[in-house]
Amino acid sequence: MTDAARKIAALREKIRHHEHLYYVLDAPAISDAEFDDLMRELQRLEAEHPELVTPDSPSQRVGGKPKEGFPKVAHSRPMLSLDNVMSEEELRDWDRRVRQLAGENAEIGYVCEYKLDGISMALQYRPGPNGSAHLARGLTRGDGTTGEDVTTNVRTIRSIPLSVSGAQLHKADVSQNFEVRGEVVMPLAAFRRANEERETQGLAPAANPRNYAAGTIRTLEPNIVAQRRLDFYAYFLLNERGEDLLPEQAGALDALTALGFRVNPHRAAMPGIDKVLAFIERAGEQRETLGYEIDGVVIKVNATQVQQHLGYTGRAPRWAVAFKFTARGGITQVEDIKVQVGRTGKLTPVAVLTPVSIGGTTVSRATLHNADEIERLGLKIGDYVKVERGGDVIPKVVAVVDDKEHPRGHRAFYFPSHCPECDSEVVRTEGEADYRCVNIDCPARLRESLLHFASRGVMNIEGLGEAVVAQLLDRRLVRSLADLYTLTDDDLAQLQHEVTTTDKKTGETKTRTQALVGPKERQALLAEIAASKKAGLARVLFGLGIRFVGERTAQLLAEEFGSMEALMVASADDLERVNEVGPRVSQAIHEFFEESRNRDLVHKLERAGVVMTAEKRRKTSQLGGLTFVLTGTLPNLSREEAKAKIEAAGGRVSGSVSKKTYYVVAGEDAGSKLDKARELGVKVIDEAGLEELLR
Ligand code: IVH
Repeated sequence: MTDAARKIAALREKIRHHEHLYYVLDAPAISDAEFDDLMRELQRLEAEHPELVTPDSPSQRVGGKPKEGFPKVAHSRPMLSLDNVMSEEELRDWDRRVRQLAGENAEIGYVCEYKLDGISMALQYRPGPNGSAHLARGLTRGDGTTGEDVTTNVRTIRSIPLSVSGAQLHKADVSQNFEVRGEVVMPLAAFRRANEERETQGLAPAANPRNYAAGTIRTLEPNIVAQRRLDFYAYFLLNERGEDLLPEQAGALDALTALGFRVNPHRAAMPGIDKVLAFIERAGEQRETLGYEIDGVVIKVNATQVQQHLGYTGRAPRWAVAFKFTARGGITQVEDIKVQVGRTGKLTPVAVLTPVSIGGTTVSRATLHNADEIERLGLKIGDYVKVERGGDVIPKVVAVVDDKEHPRGHRAFYFPSHCPECDSEVVRTEGEADYRCVNIDCPARLRESLLHFASRGVMNIEGLGEAVVAQLLDRRLVRSLADLYTLTDDDLAQLQHEVTTTDKKTGETKTRTQALVGPKERQALLAEIAASKKAGLARVLFGLGIRFVGERTAQLLAEEFGSMEALMVASADDLERVNEVGPRVSQAIHEFFEESRNRDLVHKLERAGVVMTAEKRRKTSQLGGLTFVLTGTLPNLSREEAKAKIEAAGGRVSGSVSKKTYYVVAGEDAGSKLDKARELGVKVIDEAGLEELLR
């Protein structure tokens, strides 16, 4: 082994170890920056030695295109679904049948696992170098017999090991050929973020994490899959023929852990159905506190021999069953429909409900999204409706109920023609679902802008909540975002609220006014505001609330331009060179800065000392992030070789020429792509030029 090969191997080992700590065990041992440095170092070394790049390197999670149309591949053994039970009685019946069929009078050993609400996935591992195994294929369930090959997308999920070392295999006593089955889920935090991002892009929010995960795994862009932060929990360990590798399910879960997979810690081997019921009860309580959705508990016979003996009925095993939780829904009456104004002026209708308890939370409001949705539901005020809520999702009205006990309401709802907060006219743009208040001075817009600006993940000003913001506006202490930075202790001391107390003896109530924010809290709030000045350009950009500029786009823009000044004068072409920025986004940015009040706001923030710069993206390697297009026949390199070299150096290869193309590498008989490059003024080089760049 050369020196470089040794270095690369050691670095990969180290990165895999930290990936495991971070993504599987949730216990990082180094900072994100340190991790990034390790990864960059690996990318640098691999760029210097493209011949040493292997597909199981941690640098190769995102890359390549999914195979055309996700080809169908037969499963090693069918992926079945489970029969459901909904009550204790049904579960006890199932247990009785199992014991009867197993010929056991004694209690049967079960394993309880959470039923994760995601999509099932089969991962096939095959022999890799030095006794290791590498991820060869990821298959969706498909029709159960054949799945879809989604390998390139599955590789981007950080909790899925791209390789398992010989030592790990040895320890778990598993051969280099094995299969892992489990569930791909979208954690609630990732789901929430994805929906916020969708909102800034003017898209309807995704309905639930499960659907979003299912859609994501079949996306044609692996880098989008990588951003969505899916997770994978393993629950079956099989050999390459699809047979159980170990004599017990409980042992298989432990072996999966030893192999480096994420296995849900909420699991238990239970010696009989009473203990199982206790597990289910606890799971129901835990359900509200998890970072992901579960919709029940799966109960499996522990001994694989007994499993085999029990066998299958048509589509489901007899040796396992799903105890399903009831949907978190309820029926209640719509008392009114109110319209809320968001920070972009968007009007959102909200149903005011007779309070109803759903899954332990009282729900008294539910979003109706927009006017079209009200029409689709055929909703009238006074109607009874079915309301559902996911783990973290805002409750929503799913249907109008119309039966004997629930008569229909009568009052039709008309979308207001004027803003409920400032009385300006509202406008609905052709082709858009939303009505907007176009008055930029609308107090509701300023209120929502302030709340967004101060929120966690943006400028992170703790203590600047709804009550404080409302009074700051009422008392005209704040008329723009920039005014936050000139607030004084005296200003905050003016904020008051009314407190009502009841005399215990006489029952008399007294109302008096009291400071809304105490002296200590005022100091803390002022310190928070001062500290937010250092949040950096990306946060400020996100905080300004430019249409279509969500957290991620703001981050990319900040890295590309490095300062607000540079961004404000950037042309559409400059802006659109940033990944993910298209004409719609660049136009929104221009419109924002064309408004003189917005430019004033930026300058005021700057004068207040708010940091308006960011570290420009460190080019990770000589071709960091640049897009290349290959066309024609190169004299020495094949397409694949050229592509591998460019990617190893941190560049990207695309199939078509656009303004985002940095270089077109043209060989003999180059065709229309070369013409397109000339048309767009994209630089054209030949193979020698490419080699030059790579040096
Ligand atoms: S066992 C033949 N275990 O639930 C055995 N499934 O309705 C079937 N699921 O398709 C799978 N968590 O997508 C099993 N701990 C778990 C599970 C689980 C979620 C899903 C899986 C399956 C569906 C069955």
